[in-house]
Amino acid sequence: MRYSEELIEEIRERNDIVDVISSYVSLKKKGVTYFGLCPFHNERSPSFSVSREKQMYYCFGCGQGGDVYGFLMEYNRLSFGEALRELADRAGIQLPEQEMSREEKQQEDARLVLREMNKAAAVYFHWNLLHSKRGEKARAYLTERGISGETIKHFGLGYADLYRDDLYLYLKDKGFTDQQMKDSSLVTIDSVRGSYDKFFNRVMFPIMDAGQRVIGFGGRVMGQGEPKYLNSRETLLFDKSHNLYGLNYARRSRDKAMILCEGYMDVISLHQAGFTNAVAPLGTAFTPGQALLIKRYTREVILAFDSDEAGIKAALRALPILRDNGLQGRVLSLKPYKDPDELIKAEGEKGFAQRLEKAESGRMFELNVLHDRYDQQDPGSRTEFIREMAKKLAEIDEGVERAAYVQAAANHFMVSEKDLTDLVNRYGLGYQYQKANENYKKSPETREQAGTKKADLATQPQKLLLTWLIEQPGIYPVIRRIISPDDFLVPLHHAVALMIFDRLEKGEEIFPAGILGKFTDAEEKREVAALFNARLDYEPDEEKNDRALTDVVRKVKLASIEEEMTRTNDILRWQELIVQKNKIQKLELHLKD
Ligand code: CTP
Ligand code: MN
Repeated sequence: MRYSEELIEEIRERNDIVDVISSYVSLKKKGVTYFGLCPFHNERSPSFSVSREKQMYYCFGCGQGGDVYGFLMEYNRLSFGEALRELADRAGIQLPEQEMSREEKQQEDARLVLREMNKAAAVYFHWNLLHSKRGEKARAYLTERGISGETIKHFGLGYADLYRDDLYLYLKDKGFTDQQMKDSSLVTIDSVRGSYDKFFNRVMFPIMDAGQRVIGFGGRVMGQGEPKYLNSRETLLFDKSHNLYGLNYARRSRDKAMILCEGYMDVISLHQAGFTNAVAPLGTAFTPGQALLIKRYTREVILAFDSDEAGIKAALRALPILRDNGLQGRVLSLKPYKDPDELIKAEGEKGFAQRLEKAESGRMFELNVLHDRYDQQDPGSRTEFIREMAKKLAEIDEGVERAAYVQAAANHFMVSEKDLTDLVNRYGLGYQYQKANENYKKSPETREQAGTKKADLATQPQKLLLTWLIEQPGIYPVIRRIISPDDFLVPLHHAVALMIFDRLEKGEEIFPAGILGKFTDAEEKREVAALFNARLDYEPDEEKNDRALTDVVRKVKLASIEEEMTRTNDILRWQELIVQKNKIQKLELHLKD
């Protein structure tokens, strides 16, 4: 959907960010800025700020930030178009219809219909559970499993009746067409059997996205039966690898970590016991998409998978996914109980809380599992174990972390620390060689990507310089002689630099929300917002300040020159660049000349 910039701007102007955010987060005014508890990460003291002047929000704790659109997108998990529509509505602005292409409009309409239908079905199932005659059986089942009436309401649990087409008839009556129902995965339609409900005689778990909208269902047989759980298939709304059960509540919990367990019932009994930070995948293995989803809210995950072999395997698969996505994983032991649901019943919330405390690091868990797979009494087998352990330890990239785990493992498994260190170093060399070799063999494209890694090193000074320009436009006349927007190598920074330079050149003021508004991608908005809110440590001392600025400008320019040097084949240009480089190295900037 493409709306004109003027329209986007007008809608923003008519929706003051403080007013909008106030309806979601309670804010207190401090000076010119409003503060509250950040809805995007777990914290106990407010570091979430909203500025009326800048028309921006920014969290000093987690770095989330953006304009009013960004906030709605993030908070309610909306697309830019959806946020725009909501804000237009709020301000009573009529959106021009034709700005959507026909295809986009169709997709959008189909999604809306699906949302409506899922909601209607959830309401219907829930009503059946609470009020229908046959729902009694399901109520008894849940009660017997220790689920309170309050929890049933909280999670919107339901009951799919044993008639095979009652939902179909209900939805038809609501005006949904056969095709729409087919697309929702709630009803199966085939030429032989006609239309029948996918779920019947099951306890229903509505699955919600982080924005609290029903996107699919899981249904459990009461008692024995196959399959135990039946889940909606993926639809336009339901993407199993990018959603988590319970996230709609867990994202608002104030705990530091999230608890990842296996199933719906685990999540429900944990929440009922007060652990509102529990989530679970949706009937599939844990995915990188889910890791990224969690990362929006916290950096720490505690695995509470079933204690059987399948659960251990699932944990072994989930841990590297967490690591690869920048999350720290710990593993909780449920033994001798099967799953969190059982443990809570047996030991209560206190028992679970104690086990949370004692959850071990993911790495130690992996080593313990490895340990148990070898006969430690047999010298050959034990040697093999130590070798395998060393290989795993050698994979830890960072030296300090590696050394810490070598030490911990040596103590724990009673191996001499020196021997283990030697072994790890040996494998480490092999491992690093292997990695380098793999990189070498990779296609030119990925080698190019490795090149941009190098540019990454220069991003910090680039960001700093942009922030500096925003906060102290007075430096512009001094730096414009040396730096141009093209020296900002990261595309996003380049785009921001173009706008800032353009405005400063014309002697205009920089209006953060105006610049932010040019970016519609949530990730980009967040990064740009960070530029506007990073805190610079000004040096009160003029000389020191000059030196700091000189240093940043030098770094940015040098990275840019070096980047061009790797690209150019022109020997003359190359020589020019060498001369420039020497000049920059001797550069001294003075703000007050
Ligand atoms: N699951 C599934 N299909 C199945 C079995 C399981 O999709 N046939 C998924 C469900 O999401 C379920 C999770 O895997 O919640 C864990 O399965 P399991 O451990 O068998 O179920 P529990 O969570 O222990 O459920 P219950 O306590 O109701 O037996
Ligand atoms: Mn289970």
